[in-house]
Amino acid sequence: KKKIAVMTSGGDSPGMNAAVRAVVRMTIHMGCDAYCVYEGYEGLVQGSNLIRKMEWDDVRGWLSEGGTLIGTARCMAFYERPGRLTAAKNLVLSGIDALIICGGDGSLTGADKFRSEWPSLLKELVSTGELTADQVKDCQHLNIVGLVGSIDNDLAGTDATIGCYSALARICEMVDYIEATASSHSRAFVIEVMGRHCGWLALMAGVATGADFVFIPERPREHDWKEDMHRKIGKRKTIVIVAEGARDKNGTKITAEEIKDLLADKSEGGLALDTRITTLGHVQRGGTAVAYDRMLATLQGVEAVKAVLDATPETETSFIAITENQIVRKPLMKAVAETKKCSEAVDSKDFELAMSLRDSEFED
Ligand code: F6P
Repeated sequence: KKKIAVMTSGGDSPGMNAAVRAVVRMTIHMGCDAYCVYEGYEGLVQGSNLIRKMEWDDVRGWLSEGGTLIGTARCMAFYERPGRLTAAKNLVLSGIDALIICGGDGSLTGADKFRSEWPSLLKELVSTGELTADQVKDCQHLNIVGLVGSIDNDLAGTDATIGCYSALARICEMVDYIEATASSHSRAFVIEVMGRHCGWLALMAGVATGADFVFIPERPREHDWKEDMHRKIGKRKTIVIVAEGARDKNGTKITAEEIKDLLADKSEGGLALDTRITTLGHVQRGGTAVAYDRMLATLQGVEAVKAVLDATPETETSFIAITENQIVRKPLMKAVAETKKCSEAVDSKDFELAMSLRDSEFED
């Protein structure tokens, strides 16, 4: 019987539980044994009770749970070869020959490295006497398939990552709350959202809430943003959404503090707006998944199990994507090489147009 394990890794994202549930149940449906590796790569390295066999009912009710119930970690030991050696030993001892990993680009890159090193890891384990030739003879290949779980929607080659629409919905809900108080007090708010390298969340939130300005990492404003703001501001409320990794046209970081200082500047010619900063932080990652993420995670979890069962030693590591509403397998490393640019999600002309629908200037 084939043994397929699933794990979650890196930052949690809403929908990870739906993915684990789907993998566990699809694995059992296909007549295989299902395992969960708890605490991400940490679980692979520590082994023993962090690698657990799962039954159909063990994942009951998981669709509507936030976070990841099998835990996740950013595991330093796995970055080093000794950590990966121990992880390989644990997998061989538990008889697991296929791994489905739900995580972001960093986690999936680690997975690809693990897979490509697998033969040399086994060789070393045998030569050092950690395992016998007999123990490794049926584990010559490790199949790995990735599911992209990240709120950032930053992997190229897929329209959406598991969790991004839940985080976006959360941001919109929070911006709506802030708008009410901003209007009441005639204030400006600078709202910082997540996104170190990819501004998808900030950009889409800007369009969806009708924000006045959006700052993102990868599409630096062509014009001088300070001048832009001076020209356009003068309303009862002003909402600025800034991604945590926002940059200007020269690639210099733009911080929420800096934007606030500009809006609040009381010196001659300054905007002198009563301004507050709200950093949404981990509120964006927590909570239950929206319907889209549950559906995406479930369909992709099913496909991931099919992909590991179809894989041959020659198959390169793949991940499960969604493009034009089709769930498809794609080569992982090609996608990882290109962090997604927002322009993949929306043409910049369409974006400018959508943003120009903001409230008119100089209203009371
Ligand atoms: O990659 C997901 C993400 O939520 C980023 O948007 C954010 O920059 C980062 O994780 C935060 O990481 P941590 O939870 O470790 O602070």
